[in-house]
Amino acid sequence: MTKTPVSVIGLGRMGATIAEIYLREGHPTTVWNRTPAKAEPLLAKGARPAATVAEAVAASPVSVIMLADDTVVRASLESATSELDGRTIVNLTTGRPDEARELGDWLAGHGAEYLDGGVLGVPQTLATPESVIIYSGSTAANQRHGEIVAALGTARYLGADHGLASLNDMAILSGMYGLFSGYFHSVAMVDSEGFKAAEFTKDLLIPWLRSIVDVLPTLADEIDSGDYPVNFSNLDVNVAGIENIMRTSRSQGVTDAPLVPLRDALAAQQEKGHGEASFSRAVEELKSSE
Ligand SMILES: NC(=O)c1ccc[n+]([C@@H]2O[C@H](COP(=O)([O-])OP(=O)(O)OC[C@H]3O[C@@H](n4cnc5c(N)ncnc54)[C@H](OP(=O)(O)O)[C@@H]3O)[C@@H](O)[C@H]2O)c1
Repeated sequence: MTKTPVSVIGLGRMGATIAEIYLREGHPTTVWNRTPAKAEPLLAKGARPAATVAEAVAASPVSVIMLADDTVVRASLESATSELDGRTIVNLTTGRPDEARELGDWLAGHGAEYLDGGVLGVPQTLATPESVIIYSGSTAANQRHGEIVAALGTARYLGADHGLASLNDMAILSGMYGLFSGYFHSVAMVDSEGFKAAEFTKDLLIPWLRSIVDVLPTLADEIDSGDYPVNFSNLDVNVAGIENIMRTSRSQGVTDAPLVPLRDALAAQQEKGHGEASFSRAVEELKSSE
């Protein structure tokens, strides 16, 4: 069966790997990059060169974009407005929901269907189930070109609203940075007594964090119920625990700053009379922030 021709716009670390995957899968593949030299290894493997973004968009019914950010994406597409009518644009560049919605409206105004997505993976894991591609936007484009996204990993379509994928992407990355914040703080604490990060991380921290990840679905059920029943520990116990960690941290000469926002959220819920509820009630406090 003939494979859908695809254009790949942006051949950085991710884009070049994406183009390689389409070539390997037998899609006629056209490529464009600001720095043309990066296209050369792909041309040697059978990709067709496009001299401009407009040429790339015109070459295929669907274009996959992987550029530095959504400002660059918008500027690149603005140079191709004459070719957008009837095309599908799949933008996998990491961006915000407001940018995705704006781009979706702008593309619709030029007759193009739009899918916006984010990649939870690295170049090395693309095209394996380990890479998850979350995306949202035009249902018609998803029906027609969903396979183009699915070729890059485990594809999860989240609905017609262009902003939904970026919202989920940003939320997942927030979870990741929360983990890094706690990680860097814990390493700084033990470093104050000369413990090496490697040993502490491998032998002590990782086994504990792995077991904690398994607790999250139970916390999710508490949150979804809206009642915050206690399965593990209540809010009072956690405020006291966090304050102990903060005191220890300060007395070791290490800032307690990474823990302040969580302690404050839990303490605010305590003040509202929820000390006996599960500590997952922190979510209620975060939701009420401006
Ligand atoms: N790398 C990862 O592991 C990873 C994982 C998940 C998501 N992402 C996301 O994927 C996107 C690309 O990341 P990457 O790692 O592939 O980045 P990268 O290797 O730095 O590539 C950036 C791409 O953007 C192009 N670009 C930058 N500024 C431009 C401009 N003003 N005009 C035209 N083109 C421009 C670059 O062109 P030149 O070659 O000419 O510089 C290059 O093609 C980002 O949104 C990133 O957040 C990356």
